[in-house]
Amino acid sequence: MKSLAFLSQKGGSGKTTLAVHTAVAAQEDGERVAIIDTDIQRSATTWGGARGDETHRRYQRRR
Ligand SMILES: Nc1ncnc2c1ncn2[C@@H]1O[C@H](COP(=O)(O)OP(=O)(O)O)[C@@H](O)[C@H]1O
Ligand SMILES: [Mg+2]
Repeated sequence: MKSLAFLSQKGGSGKTTLAVHTAVAAQEDGERVAIIDTDIQRSATTWGGARGDETHRRYQRRR
């Protein structure tokens, strides 16, 4: 299993865009892909829902 992380402290630098596009490209190459969205903005999760991806689970952090 390969794991890729897209990290930068700066907002709006393209982390989510790069992550979701890389995921789709890998899937089209025949890989099984999971995106783990730890950002409180949840942009990648929202994007996955909009795409109608097969599995779209949400785990809320317990306080
Ligand atoms: N390579 C790129 N060229 C042009 N615009 C981009 C590129 N990568 C990201 N963007 C745009 O920049 C904005 C911020 O990107 P985003 O991936 O949400 O950043 P982050 O996740 O780092 O906050 C979005 O509007 C996105 O469409
Ligand atoms: Mg983001």
